[in-house]
Amino acid sequence: MTAEPLHRTDNDHVIEQGYAAYTEADHAIWQDLFMRQSNLLPGRACAEFMEGLQGLGVVADKIPDFEALSAILMRTTGWRIVAVPGLIPDDVFFRHLSERQFPATYWIRRREQMDYLQEPDVFHDVFGHVPLLMNPIFADYLQAYGRGGLKALSLGALPLLARLYWYTVEFGLIKTGNGLRIYGSGIVSSFSESRYCLENNTPLRLGFDLERIMRTRYRIDDFQETYFVIDSFDQLFDATAPDFTPLYERVAALTEINPSAAISNDSLIAISP
Ligand code: CO
Repeated sequence: MTAEPLHRTDNDHVIEQGYAAYTEADHAIWQDLFMRQSNLLPGRACAEFMEGLQGLGVVADKIPDFEALSAILMRTTGWRIVAVPGLIPDDVFFRHLSERQFPATYWIRRREQMDYLQEPDVFHDVFGHVPLLMNPIFADYLQAYGRGGLKALSLGALPLLARLYWYTVEFGLIKTGNGLRIYGSGIVSSFSESRYCLENNTPLRLGFDLERIMRTRYRIDDFQETYFVIDSFDQLFDATAPDFTPLYERVAALTEINPSAAISNDSLIAISP
């Protein structure tokens, strides 16, 4: 574990969280989202996520202070949170990850957006993403992803690598002795998809397969039609460690796969009883 010092560069898009500017209404929205998800997630989210959430002491009653979260993360896995205004350019995002800095949106959604939001807010970014950064293997995976992102940019392969982020970091499922569990942030921060992804018969659930993931498009406007299931975070880390350069070349020559379509060789995973 290497605790990096805070890296600042000219165009890093980092701002102050502006904690004092949150209103009581903002904190109340956090509290409601937090309560709803923390009632729903036991038995649905993986143990690593639940442990991370507890370890952070991300408390239910207030939007967390990024400084306080960073202090805990720092001594656990060497990560910190930096505040950003929202989505930032790809290269800037990857550079932050490669330096173990997680860019988190500072603002919180409005009451009308409790169930659906087009872009990440502080609830998605902090409740969804930060707990797993307490896990040493996942923490290393995300840093490796950041480095890989810079490389993919230079190789013109970003759309392929983006699918890996989508189907793991955002919408990943994991197999456990007690059945499937959620680890993807896009799911753990969503009331309806937290149940849909585990309980509905419609979507495909496939074993983790790097090449299959890189070929598969995804939707940003509705529940996922395909989920990929890892056996463990070690599997994820090890499978993504090799140089992707030859893989990018191979996948670029293959047809893309529609997220609603199974192909031959797919290993479908049944929902646990
Ligand atoms: Co996200």
